[in-house]
Amino acid sequence: MYWSTIALLLLAATPSIGVVRFHCSQLVVQRLDPLVNPGSIPSSHVHQIVGGNAFNATMALDKDLPAESTCTSCQFTEDFSNYWTAVLYFRARNGTYKRVPQLGNNQFEKANGGLTIYYMQDAIYDQQQKSKVKAFQPGFRMFIGNVSARTLTDAARYRQLTYVCMDTWTMRAPETMAFPTRKCKEGIMTSLRFPTCWDGKNLDSPDHMSHMSYPESGTFESGGPCPASHPVRVGQVMFEVVWDTKKFNDLEWPEDGSSPWVWSFGDGTGYATHGDYVFGWKDDSLQRILDASCWFNTNCINESKSKVQSVEKMNECTQKPVVDEDIDSWLDELPGGFQVDHGHL
Ligand SMILES: *[C@@H]1O[C@H](CO)[C@@H](O)[C@H](O)[C@H]1NC(C)=O
Ligand SMILES: *[C@@H]1O[C@H](CO)[C@@H](O)[C@H](O)[C@H]1NC(C)=O
Ligand SMILES: *[C@@H]1O[C@H](CO)[C@@H](O)[C@H](O)[C@H]1NC(C)=O
Ligand SMILES: *[C@@H]1O[C@H](CO)[C@@H](O)[C@H](O)[C@H]1NC(C)=O
Repeated sequence: MYWSTIALLLLAATPSIGVVRFHCSQLVVQRLDPLVNPGSIPSSHVHQIVGGNAFNATMALDKDLPAESTCTSCQFTEDFSNYWTAVLYFRARNGTYKRVPQLGNNQFEKANGGLTIYYMQDAIYDQQQKSKVKAFQPGFRMFIGNVSARTLTDAARYRQLTYVCMDTWTMRAPETMAFPTRKCKEGIMTSLRFPTCWDGKNLDSPDHMSHMSYPESGTFESGGPCPASHPVRVGQVMFEVVWDTKKFNDLEWPEDGSSPWVWSFGDGTGYATHGDYVFGWKDDSLQRILDASCWFNTNCINESKSKVQSVEKMNECTQKPVVDEDIDSWLDELPGGFQVDHGHL
């Protein structure tokens, strides 16, 4: 629903708005996860990663991403953060799996896969964006979602980790919490919204989540207050990932009407969608953007004196996988040895 509101607001954009939306092309696709499986080469399941090329199996809190990166796959050239998600596979009737590639998002069609990032001060449809928010600090990281979730109840603990079955390229609703079960003409979009209340002290926590919280009542969108335990309201980070499911529409789908989609760690329900974020903006570059009048980048770049690069340049920043394995053929099992788990149907 919010997307149609945005379309209307875009027509009437005023210069007092602070939503920034930009794309990051694919840096690498492989089994590494410095947050959940630090130091493991390989990690448990396949991820698609974007951002600065200092991404590595181990990323200590004091790792200086801007200093150690020589390029970023993101549009803002001072953003050496890393953003990642699991990857999607299609399961054929014969039981084999094929990786679903990603597409550049709306307005970033030439991007090589990757994902789109938003930072917002208030609800995406709030034209004022009046709240002042402080940028994250070096070393900050967070995770959202539950790899073990297989039911709606498990998934409902996390607000707004959703799917859109896109019949058109710009369709953004309705959103579901499980995988779409019908054929989507243009692809599937997954969206991940991170929590917006920080404890103000910890850059990380053992589950990579408990230093963050949702508002105590209401929602980020309704301006709900942060709990006393997590008093610092931060901007909302949101990912959008477009999965190119079109070419699988012509294949045979499961006879029982279930979804053929499966996350790289075996979730066949969709409820275990999750995302990872490691902050790595150089100096005050994110704060300048959050303080500027951004409306999907119009004005923002000039006002914040941000440096940006072309999609071609974004596409040039890639990493060679350090894990040498086949993730792209028709596979008998998902890399790491997973089979599809449909939960309790
Ligand atoms: C990743 O870490 C290894 C081991 O510390 C190091 O040899 C390598 O250069 C690092 N790669 C990047 C891209 O930082
Ligand atoms: C399994 O099905 C897929 C999709 O139809 C096909 O491309 C692949 O060759 C099949 N694999 C085997 C071993 O039959
Ligand atoms: C994740 O889901 C599993 C399976 O239902 C559940 O046992 C576990 O408590 C959940 N973890 C969190 C942090 O919600
Ligand atoms: C930003 O600055 C450039 C160069 O000065 C100018 O061409 C462009 O129109 C400006 N864009 C906006 C949205 O103000």
